[in-house]
Amino acid sequence: MSTPAPDNGTHGSPAASRAEPRSRKDLPAWRKLEEHADRMGETTLRVLFDSDPERASAFAVEDLGMYADFAKNRINAETLALLAELAEQCGLKEKIDAMFSGEKINVSEDRAVLHTALRASRQTTIELDGHDVVPEVHEVLEKMAGFATAVRSGQWKGHTGQRIRNVINIGIGGSDLGPRMAYQALHPFTDRDLRLEFVSNIDGAEFAETTHGLDPAETLFIVSSKSWRTLETLTNAATAREWTLAAFDGDASAVARHFVAVSTNTEGVTEFGIDSANMFGFWDWVGGRYSVDSAVGLSLMVGIGPENFTEMLGGFHDVDEHFRTTPLERNIPALMGLISVWYNNFMGAQSQAVLPYSNYLSHLPAYLQQLEMESNGKHVTLDGAQVDYQTGQIIWGQPGTNGQHAFYQLLHQGTKLIPCDFIAVVEPFSHLEHQHDLLNASVFAQTEGLAFGRSEQELRDAGSPEEQIPHRVCKGNQPTTTLLLDRLDPRSLGTLIALYEHKVFTEGVVWDVDSFDQWGVELGKLLADTIAGELTAEHVASMDHDGSTTELIRRYRTGRGRG
Ligand code: F6P
Repeated sequence: MSTPAPDNGTHGSPAASRAEPRSRKDLPAWRKLEEHADRMGETTLRVLFDSDPERASAFAVEDLGMYADFAKNRINAETLALLAELAEQCGLKEKIDAMFSGEKINVSEDRAVLHTALRASRQTTIELDGHDVVPEVHEVLEKMAGFATAVRSGQWKGHTGQRIRNVINIGIGGSDLGPRMAYQALHPFTDRDLRLEFVSNIDGAEFAETTHGLDPAETLFIVSSKSWRTLETLTNAATAREWTLAAFDGDASAVARHFVAVSTNTEGVTEFGIDSANMFGFWDWVGGRYSVDSAVGLSLMVGIGPENFTEMLGGFHDVDEHFRTTPLERNIPALMGLISVWYNNFMGAQSQAVLPYSNYLSHLPAYLQQLEMESNGKHVTLDGAQVDYQTGQIIWGQPGTNGQHAFYQLLHQGTKLIPCDFIAVVEPFSHLEHQHDLLNASVFAQTEGLAFGRSEQELRDAGSPEEQIPHRVCKGNQPTTTLLLDRLDPRSLGTLIALYEHKVFTEGVVWDVDSFDQWGVELGKLLADTIAGELTAEHVASMDHDGSTTELIRRYRTGRGRG
């Protein structure tokens, strides 16, 4: 894609123009984008395509084993030039370098953000506080590989000497969504004799249903919690311990063969009763939602094997290099992030759909919800000043073609602007190749239909009854990006995840927020602690809540016979 060279405006050096404005809205590029959006609001994808026969190739990037088609977005060359200018004025390049070099860009927690070190080659040196972190990354990867191989080969046995046939990952949020999504995505690469399950919810129904019918003697739990303080995970882990020990007459020595831990908190793990030799560590510079490629991916590695895991890391690394070194006009994650900002801040979009046309990717939208919304759902800038613009995309979606028969009606004829990412795969995975062709026919049909719709004239020409025409018109102009992957395999999955990681990073830089903290989540946890006591106590003298919450608690207590 070609964009004119960024214009720094008449505001002195880039550094000076970055230091002065109080709000991103005061940046020259932001103001120009607002004016530009007024003009673009009056044009349509139909007009944009009609006026530029080269548009399809001009707005596509072919790299990283995919064809990224941005042509059906409501952008032109000027939009991209202005977005490039905005990125420049927000210091995107410098911020990328800061992240990769281990600067403490997670300012509110005073931490470096080095998930990119998790997929760096052994030969790389990445220093944090004068200490190279790469050797310890590879040390953990080796330990993971040893364990995964032992479980897969049957060398790792349960307490009674039986082979492990069920592996259950207990974790939540970043300690669940990544391996859960990736395991589903890479199912054809998994050992089908080994059953992998995931338990995350505090709702005991999930644990009960998941373990229903399983033999504890053949079941291994991987308890995954960065902090080892998360209520859901520690509660489910305690339940799992009880469930296991009940099968072995309470013999606590069984824990060593049926529980391993993934955490940064050695003390907590040991206190729980898991030997630190069975613990796989990671570091505070890996955010939970950026951790699938750390030891948090242990369950996944057991499922797909160390070699496939390494391939996945290769995909991540390819994107890291692409993001760090590729000029903006061909930089796929940066373009995804900037186009997302365009819709969010200049075109008034309130949400974004992610629509994978692969059943293997059915957990991707949920994974991206955490990645995007926990990262960029922020209300203050890095300096702690209130933002005066919209941040954080709302992400939603589900796989095609199912979604077509649920919510696509609103995309085609509703009143909301909803940019969509379509993810499609060229190579079929099953022998049902005809179904694969039909699946992809739907991708291309949907993006065509969303972009160009169906006009009154077209309907009339096709003989639609006059009175139905207003109801049948599809205005089109609904923007889409299509990521057409050559295939879905460990490497391309790593690529896909890393693309979205860096997309989110790009948005965060423009919005000037800390994309790596999550203080908001703490409030819910704090309140739940108090309320849990009030729900379970025999008598509660008084409660300090609003009327509505008090009444809900009171009714629940009554219903549970604790009047
Ligand atoms: O949901 C909040 C959160 O802190 C996430 O950021 C994190 O991924 C999840 O909880 C689980 O945390 P932990 O891995 O420490 O149990």
